[in-house]
Amino acid sequence: MRAHEAGAMHAEVGSRGPAWLRTPGDVNALLPQLWPRSVTRGPDGVLAVGGRGVHDLAAEFGTPVYVLDEADFRARCREFAEGFGEAELFYAGKAFICKAVVRMLAEEGLSLDVCSGGELAVALAAGMPPDRIGLHGNNKSVDELRRALDAGVGRIVLDSFQEIDRLTTLARERGVQPRVMVRVTVGVEAHTHEYIATAHEDQKFGFSLAGGAARAAVERVLADGVLELRGLHSHIGSQIFDTDAFEVAAKRVLGLQAAIRDAHGTELPELDLGGGFGIAYTSQDDPRTPAELADGLRRIVKEDCDALGLAVPRLSFEPGRAIVGPAVFTLYEVGTVKDVDGIRTYVSVDGGMSDNIRTALYDASYSATLAGRASEAPPILARVVGKHCESGDVVVKDEFLPADVQPGDLLAVPGTGAYCRSMASNYNHVPRPPVIAVRDGVARVIVRRETEADLLALDVG
Ligand SMILES: Cc1ncc(COP(=O)(O)O)c(C=O)c1O
Repeated sequence: MRAHEAGAMHAEVGSRGPAWLRTPGDVNALLPQLWPRSVTRGPDGVLAVGGRGVHDLAAEFGTPVYVLDEADFRARCREFAEGFGEAELFYAGKAFICKAVVRMLAEEGLSLDVCSGGELAVALAAGMPPDRIGLHGNNKSVDELRRALDAGVGRIVLDSFQEIDRLTTLARERGVQPRVMVRVTVGVEAHTHEYIATAHEDQKFGFSLAGGAARAAVERVLADGVLELRGLHSHIGSQIFDTDAFEVAAKRVLGLQAAIRDAHGTELPELDLGGGFGIAYTSQDDPRTPAELADGLRRIVKEDCDALGLAVPRLSFEPGRAIVGPAVFTLYEVGTVKDVDGIRTYVSVDGGMSDNIRTALYDASYSATLAGRASEAPPILARVVGKHCESGDVVVKDEFLPADVQPGDLLAVPGTGAYCRSMASNYNHVPRPPVIAVRDGVARVIVRRETEADLLALDVG
């Protein structure tokens, strides 16, 4: 549900790769900001995570496989929770959700944002307390709203006038007063390294601020008195590296908050500024720490509230990518290596756009490294591609790999925790890879590998 996501911008420069690509000399280096924190490379060049070598993992679980560094994931949860202090953090389940991850979130004290009945089902099955679940979506079905009410979720983020009416009817029938927020489209589109103010009213999410729909939505909820309006919500995009765009969004949404107070004498007690905090996919990305982000965001809200004479509302945020993205890498096995004369070398792995669609969908940039051995061979510019019948089936557009990369080698791609397994498909009837969690020398399957039998079971013709 990212309003917009742009990949890192770079220009192709022929066989030398894009200008930013790290120098060929450090082809064996692991840039710490790209990898889960327990990942090390031994003297033999073999990567290990959580105390387990990648050859072991590949032998036990097969490839491709998503490898979650559990200690790293939990540490990132805690860093967000500590950095953001009093604010409530709703981990965005769309980035990646499964029961084991929900249990980790619950244990680390985070709340959970879900945006479909399916994500809600996982959250409830894993025992997330319902009052720590928030429900999003621009087209929630009546059934999804009903299930959310019956479960007693903590909040529902309203996204259309029809939804206000549907939820009001359902709440009246049940004699309950669900807590809701109104999602405001503030006219800020946040890109990777820029934002364009007033440029993004044209989208399906939320109620337009400029057009007056947001205020009308608030007034309808207040007038009906059936739903408990807790506050306004704004989510401006994804893979955002600084707080400038949030500053514009906060100013606008708090302006509406003040207008509501002036007209109705009501100060809404909560404010959600969404998620979207960026992570490092390549050496070009330089993300802020949770504490830095939190300090900046708190200051922005405080200054705006002071200027408008508002009490500072209780803040909440919805980080997804920034928590799970860096905690996972995908381990592949190389199947073929093809040198296209004078241009580049194509290294084909045993997965591809079915386990990571982001490169094809968003022109996203990733990096990769030879994971299973050391090599002294000179670096060559490689493109890591998948096994699908699609020329856009690219996993890593540009990477220097050792010239002796060959079939049977293990290759690892970091930063694949968010929007990879959750957006995975069965294109070409390729079964989706498993997710394993590794911690203190123990690896366990948390999402099992799909099988051809699973796929055939759906085919009842
Ligand atoms: C409403 C909302 N909140 C939170 C997020 C999570 O964004 P990210 O994973 O970039 O933090 C999204 C992503 O699309 C979203 O649509």
